[in-house]
Amino acid sequence: MDHTEVLKPQTLDELIHILHEVFSSDKVNVEEVQNIMESYESNPLEWMKFAKSDPYRYTRNLVDEGNGKFNLMILCWGEGHGSSIHDHTNSHCFLKILQGNLKETMYDWPQKKSNGTMVKKSEGVLKLNECAYINDSIGLHRVENPSHTETAVSLHLYSPPFDQCNTFDQRTGHKNTVKMTFWSKFGERTPMATTTQSQENN
Ligand SMILES: [Fe+2]
Repeated sequence: MDHTEVLKPQTLDELIHILHEVFSSDKVNVEEVQNIMESYESNPLEWMKFAKSDPYRYTRNLVDEGNGKFNLMILCWGEGHGSSIHDHTNSHCFLKILQGNLKETMYDWPQKKSNGTMVKKSEGVLKLNECAYINDSIGLHRVENPSHTETAVSLHLYSPPFDQCNTFDQRTGHKNTVKMTFWSKFGERTPMATTTQSQENN
């Protein structure tokens, strides 16, 4: 089914409901999902129960499991927090800003001719309510909160869901497979997540 009309979710719950509908078909229309996510205007009152942060590194907080079709999660970024360079396990990745700004730096996959050194393709700053998209054929990226005074919060949709990805050393291109865990699920803290989450920063 084609969703040609513009669907503007008024609340986070409505956004989730619309995403369930859109992903009930097996074909993902990237532009449509991006538009829907972008048209939700962030309201902190609606998402604050999921936004559990940690002073030491960014956190991943599961919001919805999308009937097995996608994972929707909220990431909380402290001042200066950032991810490593990583891939997305052949999934679609949508990233929407709910609060603050995030800097996205894009890289090509490491290649022999550059001796493994990661080649930066582009960088840009994502602003409130903007929604970016990436997948493995587009390349790799690093995401960071460039502010040293403000926190940032982002909403991520991954389809199909995955729980491990590869990180890449910027200087050598060396690849590391990491398992990802949730800091909280559905607003409840998951304490066992701490040890495995720290591996992500290799
Ligand atoms: Fe990513």
